[in-house]
This record gives sequence, C-alpha cells and structure tokens, in this order.
Amino acid sequence: MSVIKIIPRDQAIGAEVTGIDLANALQLDSFEILRNALDDHRLLIFRNLRWTVAQQIAFSKSFGTLENFPDPKDQAEGHKTVLRVTNIDRKTNAIKPVDEPGHKSFTLGTSAWHIDSSFRTLPSKASILYALEIPEKGGDTMFADTTLAYDTLPEAKKQELEDLVIIHDFEETRRRHKLPPRPPEVRAATPPARQPLVAVRDNGRRALFIGSHAAGIEGMNYEDARAMIDELERICSKPEFTYRHKWREGDMVMFDNICVMHQAMPYDLSNSRRLLHRTTVAGNKPLEGVNGPVI
Ligand SMILES: [Fe+2]
Repeated sequence: MSVIKIIPRDQAIGAEVTGIDLANALQLDSFEILRNALDDHRLLIFRNLRWTVAQQIAFSKSFGTLENFPDPKDQAEGHKTVLRVTNIDRKTNAIKPVDEPGHKSFTLGTSAWHIDSSFRTLPSKASILYALEIPEKGGDTMFADTTLAYDTLPEAKKQELEDLVIIHDFEETRRRHKLPPRPPEVRAATPPARQPLVAVRDNGRRALFIGSHAAGIEGMNYEDARAMIDELERICSKPEFTYRHKWREGDMVMFDNICVMHQAMPYDLSNSRRLLHRTTVAGNKPLEGVNGPVI
C-alpha cells in the first residue's frame, strides 16, 4: 500500500512529497498520484534522494518522452537526455570562465525568468531538477506560477491578452545581451516558435506563456512587446505567486513547464560550484490558446 504524502505549501505553488520510493521504477499508482499532484500544485519537492543518472532518467520517462540535449559537453555522463545545469566544465571538472560566450549566455538565460524550452514548437510538459553540488551561499531557484497570476488580472487585461501571439526564440538572450549568435546550422534546429500568450491547459486553467525567450508579440513593435512581457513577469513574480527553493544536495524539484517560470538566483560564479541535472519531458501537442492552437 502506498504511503505517499503530498503536503501542500502554505501558499502559492508547490507541495512536498514524502514516502515515495524513487530508487526503483515508478509504479502505476505512484505515477498517478504524482501526475495529479503536479496538476494540482504545479511544483513538487522531494528531499534526500541519492539518485544516479539512470534513476533520474527512469523516473522522468514515466511522464513521457524526454528531450535531447545535443551538445556532448552539456550532457551528464554521456546521457543525451540529461542536461548539466552548472558552472563546472565537464571535462576538466574546473569552474568555467564567466566570460566564455556560451556559458555567459547560459548564465544570463537561467538567471532571468524563463520557461525551459519555450522556444520549441511543442512546448515541454515538465522539467525535473536534481541537485548534486550546491554553493554555500546563493544559487537558490525562484519559481513563479503564471496561472495564479493570470487569475488575478483585471477582466479588460485578460481580454487584451487572449488573442495575442507571442514569439519565443532561443537566440533572444544572446541578441538582447549583444553576444555572438550561435552558428547558423545550430540555430536552424530551433527556429523561432509562435505561441499563444495565454495558454489554456487540459484542466481548463489559463497561464501566461512568457519569459526570457520571448522575442516579440505579433502586431506590436519590439519595445512595446518587451514592456508588456516585462510587466506581466513583474506581476507573476509577486511573493504570493512565487516559491524560492533553497537547494540541498539530494533535492529534486519537478515542475509544470507551461505555467511555471523559474530563475536561478545569484551566487559566486567564479568560486562556488553548482551542479544540477535536468531532465525535461517533451511536449506532444501544440499549446492551446483561448481560440485554439496558433500553428
Ligand atoms: Fe531553466
């Protein structure tokens, strides 16, 4: 009999999960409990795991096909479905130079509010972060629930947003910070994606599909679009819609990757080591807007 407990946080998003055996393959009853809890709370916290890469992959695959991370230097132990979220060089095990363009773009991208893989045509369902090395100071992750924030918008604002098409582009962070673009053949693999700014979930709830990959809104100039997105991000980042996770080694956080934005908080990039492993459950259908999908 299952002894899984789902303990909701006092406010905003998230619940802590205890009593689950994640060392072995997830049983169907456990999977259903977690899937429903993720739908209810948008973010699930697990403590004190001692997970191998293989165990993280097995758990994550219970929820669907996993995204691939094509660059071998980003992959954990050679597994293409596990991304190293880190300031540590895989080959040398040393801290990376902070000004290396790829690393700088990664740091700038992860420290701004974003939705993982929001630049993909089929947005990802969920991300799973597992902490292996954590700085003594800083390096927390903030999470913001765009569903709760959307619910509080005035009716006129909701109407203004509901037909808008937002463009998400992986190159946006590099462009905004004047970093060199990635090679054309790499860029071609992730062309900009058109998405509804207001996403409608399977459970009928609405969410703001925004974040740092957002490169514009159709029918609006760049400055106006960015100002609108920034304003919505400010609303989403109010304390009542957010959760700050202070990592301990062995923590795992799984979150809904449509309606939850996140950002890494600052830490001493040059002297402190931070390593998390991320797996991401791929999307299998277009995002629904208020009037259906936009692609
Ligand atoms: Fe992320």
